[in-house]
Amino acid sequence: MAGARSMKRVTPELRVLGDAEQVAEEAARHILAVAAHIVAMHGRFRLVLAGGATPLAAYRRLARAAADWPAWELYFGDERCLPVDHPQRNSRAAATAWLDLVPLAANRIHPIPAERGAELAALAYQGLVARAQPLDLVLLGMGEDGHTASLFPGQPIPADRLVIPVLEAPKPPPERVSLTPLAFAGAGGILVLITGAAKRLALQAWRDGADLPIARAAAMAPCLVLVDRAATGPLRGF
Ligand code: 6PG
Repeated sequence: MAGARSMKRVTPELRVLGDAEQVAEEAARHILAVAAHIVAMHGRFRLVLAGGATPLAAYRRLARAAADWPAWELYFGDERCLPVDHPQRNSRAAATAWLDLVPLAANRIHPIPAERGAELAALAYQGLVARAQPLDLVLLGMGEDGHTASLFPGQPIPADRLVIPVLEAPKPPPERVSLTPLAFAGAGGILVLITGAAKRLALQAWRDGADLPIARAAAMAPCLVLVDRAATGPLRGF
């Protein structure tokens, strides 16, 4: 999956698995395999975590896995502007499912300081993401409208910013912070996890070429899309 730094558009690889559990299993296996390869080559592994509920089953599997955890460096693709320990914070959900359960030093986990408000947090996180380039692997989910991270259809996606404030997200809470596709440019790989019938229309629209936030983000590096059968209609490629 490690690809050269490239701004060229990349066609995603779609892999259909039986159900959400199999997607979680394959996602955890893939992440661990990429991490082992990257750590062997570079001595560190820079991973961006996805928010929402879909990746949590994979995170719970990673919590039970053996890995060179001290070499991992974790970032977040987006965060909701909520108090640090709010259960709907992506950083809190990842900590509960995984990060609190493995020997990862706190200074290797970089939550977005979204509790400081969207604008201040985006400014603070921009420098960190710039120093983390190129990222090794980016995990993304997808909403029913084709959004990813906190990039929503119909909202501007600046081409010159790595991290942006989001003030009117249609998915609550309205205030968020999000990495942009530019932050994913040149990454070694992108892994998208999509499960459930509710995502079927957005996944098909993406395959049919709709200019959705997920399409823009996933085109920035070699991309593997793991979906379950419930999320796929009649199989048409990208
Ligand atoms: C968030 C996520 C968001 C998520 C999608 C899918 O903060 O909500 O970053 O982009 O990945 O909305 O969410 P589910 O996995 O819960 O369906």
